[in-house]
Amino acid sequence: MWPQGARRNADGSLVIGGVDVRDAVAEYQSPVFLIDETDVRTRAREFRGAYTAAGASRVYYAAKAFLATTIARWVHDEGLGIDVASGGELAVVQRAGIPGEAIVMHGNNKSMEEIEQAIRYGVGRIVVDSFEEIARIADAAARANIVQPVLVRVTVGVEAHTHEYIATAHEDQKFGLSATHDVDEAVRRISALPSLTLVGLHSHIGSQIFDASGFEVAAARIVAVAQRLWDQQGIEIEELNLGGGMGIAYLDEDDPLDVADMAREIGAIVEAQCQQAGIPRPALAFEPGRAIIGPAGVTVYEVGTVKPVRLEGDETRWYVSVDGGMSDNIRTALYDAEYTVTLASRISEAPDIPCRVVGKHCESGDIVVRDAMLPADLAPGDLLAVAATGAYCRAMASNYNYLPRPAVVAVSDGRMQVVLRRETLDDLMRLDPGA
Ligand code: LLP
Repeated sequence: MWPQGARRNADGSLVIGGVDVRDAVAEYQSPVFLIDETDVRTRAREFRGAYTAAGASRVYYAAKAFLATTIARWVHDEGLGIDVASGGELAVVQRAGIPGEAIVMHGNNKSMEEIEQAIRYGVGRIVVDSFEEIARIADAAARANIVQPVLVRVTVGVEAHTHEYIATAHEDQKFGLSATHDVDEAVRRISALPSLTLVGLHSHIGSQIFDASGFEVAAARIVAVAQRLWDQQGIEIEELNLGGGMGIAYLDEDDPLDVADMAREIGAIVEAQCQQAGIPRPALAFEPGRAIIGPAGVTVYEVGTVKPVRLEGDETRWYVSVDGGMSDNIRTALYDAEYTVTLASRISEAPDIPCRVVGKHCESGDIVVRDAMLPADLAPGDLLAVAATGAYCRAMASNYNYLPRPAVVAVSDGRMQVVLRRETLDDLMRLDPGA
């Protein structure tokens, strides 16, 4: 759950990547996100190795989980491509100097400008998400005088979260083209357009998945599509991108399948299904986001107030207010996400008491950790660390209540490097023409 380099130093303070969290706060204020560089690089390498061994020609890092030029360079150094979902994400990746062929572009409503940006930069794969888009991409590619490789995103009617998945005949959501109703026609149209070349199919079934069962059902449906395209249109699917969604531990009891086991299982499933269908196995591709960056990140907050609140019966819950909240971690409010928190600036011998770690926003749903056990002597000025906040926290941060978004600092071998600096009030004022 904690980054691999996490430990306590002699006086009990939490150390991440060789950096005492107290030093990070002294330098960059709190809250602050710390990202353990070694942890990110190790995970990226591990995913690349395991999924390549299982038949992947490319593993992309899903940049939506968290993106900055430094992160793009780390994961690309470790052999990953990058999945972008907007022109903004693409701009950051361009700025990082990542070559176009290593990029896959997503989005269910890419603007013409975003499509043109992708084509100008030579993005290796654009994932088609609608009929309208086929014409738009074809048009932009024709004007640029290139042939753009595309995948078709297929809705396979499988939704997976953690260890559960639901398979329904019709998936009622906005992404992709239906495996049963629309994909064949989309492929026909793409094949007829000289500025497009179809390289494969794409499916993403959800997030925070702990085992391969959802992938198994999704792969079966998508292999059936590939077989049909071969039989009826003579089209061979060269690449099958099964998306991301590999889960991580947020709590002690979370137990996602090991990276190598998950990769091996998915690889074997697709192999068996293709054999059964009598089609050559396509090269695979994957797009993990959370599993690369999530566990490498920690948020450090300072405690401002500790308020005992009497509950029904004889119980008390201590409301521990920190100096951030739903503006730097919306996941608890939005998804009922659960997190692990620890007293980070010291060790305490005091008994644990039931606490709720809350933010400083004007909203009672502004909760960071709903149920936590923290030492009874917790006091203003103490630092708390929340584990596994590397993914979808800073990436989904807001300026609610005009709070500046925290810095993201890479830590490694005792050194700190700013990945994103902390916002200032001036940054926010700059948007207000009357300021
Ligand atoms: N590929 C596609 C096409 C996706 O839509 C996503 C995530 C990924 C890859 C990466 O999924 P990951 O490996 O990170 O689970 N904000 C939510 C997660 C939304 C994910 C959206 N798409 C959260 O905080 O849990």
